[in-house]
Amino acid sequence: MERLSRSATASLRMRPGAVNPHGRGIFPAMYADIDRILISHERIAEKVRQLAGQITADHAPDKLNGGEVMIVPIMTGAMIFCADLIRNIPIAMQIGLMTVSSYPGQSVRSQGAQLLGKKLGNVRGRHVLVLDDILDSGGTLGAVVPAVRAAGAAAVKTCVLLRKNRPVAMQTPVDYVGFDIPDEFVVGYGLDYNDYYRNLPDIVTLRPQAIAGQKKST
Ligand code: IMP
Ligand code: MG
Repeated sequence: MERLSRSATASLRMRPGAVNPHGRGIFPAMYADIDRILISHERIAEKVRQLAGQITADHAPDKLNGGEVMIVPIMTGAMIFCADLIRNIPIAMQIGLMTVSSYPGQSVRSQGAQLLGKKLGNVRGRHVLVLDDILDSGGTLGAVVPAVRAAGAAAVKTCVLLRKNRPVAMQTPVDYVGFDIPDEFVVGYGLDYNDYYRNLPDIVTLRPQAIAGQKKST
């Protein structure tokens, strides 16, 4: 049986300035780009369990009229949120994928949601729950939800881990929200800047030098 050593668990909890037990290299560079930790991985984990509890209760068999559940994470940002959430939802489900890009490359403001691809499977008659990492302008959900409805879903609900505190986001209909956060650019826990930082366990803001692209993590 594999056991996590003390040094392995410590590495999962690394903070800026902490000693990297794997030696010099990748982690310190990535952690040096962090301005501040907005939401710690402990708080994320607690919130994910709460959301999963609500979703499970709302998708009990008597509420589905015999229909089945399909979870649709919006790639790539919702990947980690989805992986954690669904392992706390003990009901039969299928997974479909939608890929949308609204912050291409080094963007820190939405450039408009672009549907890049989908692998939805059979949505017809399913109770679909669309998952996204963050709700900002509402353009992504505004593109995905009608596409899922058009594919024949019986019902479509939406869930975002984060919602930015700006009028357009607060006015976008959404069924489940984890955290309302300030209108700032954030990364970590699946969210990226130029496709980096998705593997940070916490949700963080970046130092201006990192955003300007003058410094690149590896
Ligand atoms: P919306 O379409 O403007 O609502 O933005 C939602 C999408 O934009 C999310 O799926 C994210 O991929 C991306 N996004 C929005 N805000 C941020 C951010 O602060 N950091 C990283 N990605 C973001
Ligand atoms: Mg996205």
